Amino acid sequence: MSTVLSTKFTPISLRTQFSRNSRTRFCNTPFPPSVYSNRSFTAKIRASSTAFVEPKPANPVVVEKEAGAGNNNLACPVCFNQLTWNGDSILSIGSTAGSSLQCNTCKKTYSGNETHIDLTAASGSKQYGQYVSPITELFRLPLIPFLYERGWRQSFLWLGFPGPEKEFEMMKDYLKPVLGGNIIDASCGSGLFSRLFAKSGLFSHVVALDYSENMLQQCYEFVDKEENFPKEKVTLIRADISRLPFVSSSIDAVHAGAAIHCWPSPSTAVAEISRVLQPGGVLVATTYILDGPYAFLPHLRIFRENMTLISGNHTFLSEHELEEICRTCGLVDFTCSRNRRFVMFSARKPN
Ligand SMILES: C[S@@+](CC[C@H](N)C(=O)[O-])C[C@H]1O[C@@H](n2cnc3c(N)ncnc32)[C@H](O)[C@@H]1O
Repeated sequence: MSTVLSTKFTPISLRTQFSRNSRTRFCNTPFPPSVYSNRSFTAKIRASSTAFVEPKPANPVVVEKEAGAGNNNLACPVCFNQLTWNGDSILSIGSTAGSSLQCNTCKKTYSGNETHIDLTAASGSKQYGQYVSPITELFRLPLIPFLYERGWRQSFLWLGFPGPEKEFEMMKDYLKPVLGGNIIDASCGSGLFSRLFAKSGLFSHVVALDYSENMLQQCYEFVDKEENFPKEKVTLIRADISRLPFVSSSIDAVHAGAAIHCWPSPSTAVAEISRVLQPGGVLVATTYILDGPYAFLPHLRIFRENMTLISGNHTFLSEHELEEICRTCGLVDFTCSRNRRFVMFSARKPN
């Protein structure tokens, strides 16, 4: 059975700006009018180094995809071979409790609880407590996940983050080529975007993935409170971004909101994302950049390296660093848009 997804996008009024700096060219901004309605939000899209990004026409999107392709891409995080499941046709919120996924190669079983299924490599270990970086540990504490959508995330507005609804509108433009496919909301936190993806109906299946059990618990509780939430469209998975439990080339889209700076190794993570994306698959992510006047601070790079060692938090000093990570991990067509420190960037796996 196939599902036909037909989505209409309103035509977008576009502006063109060219930088005096010949190395960077600013092009038309593909943000929806709602984004411009915020007067403080003056975003620009930048093409990487030399390429000029042609604005994509805002045509209606019609995508045909197989329905129910929720779990057949889940892989063992040890050997990356496909997992088999003992349950119904779709592993989703509400059906993870008591379920188990089996790796026929490693003979390892991965069990689910009420909220999620644990697909970390160390899943099932009793004695071993893996060291993770302080920032990753911070999000595992119960308090931060509880506070996350109750004020913590709103504090990102100071950096120029437009806020979840506007970020969602912006990213839809980057995701147009893969609408109707499956999407991983990588490092989903309490699932603010996973829920928007699921409710939008723009994707056949949403995987809300995070390393923090407490973030996944929050996500589960938010979903549980919502009436008529399409639970069958979402799977909650605990996994490490550096070891994604998906079959290679099986994912249409990966979204990573405000997360790349929290990952233990951004390049290892982007390499993993590149591995699991299908040819033509899209990565869209947000983070913040310390450039502009900050770039002139003496010893900024040394300070950044020391801060990363202490906290595990990676601060990017230019868009080119992000572009380089994408390029060296096999992704192409890097584009990004800025609002003060905030950046949304996208790249895709070559066809
Ligand atoms: C700032 S939150 C972002 C949450 C949400 N995506 C958003 O846009 O607000 C960063 C998330 O990264 C997750 N994270 C940190 N290290 C991770 C890792 N190694 N693997 C997967 N997720 C990780 C944290 O648990 C946390 O939920």
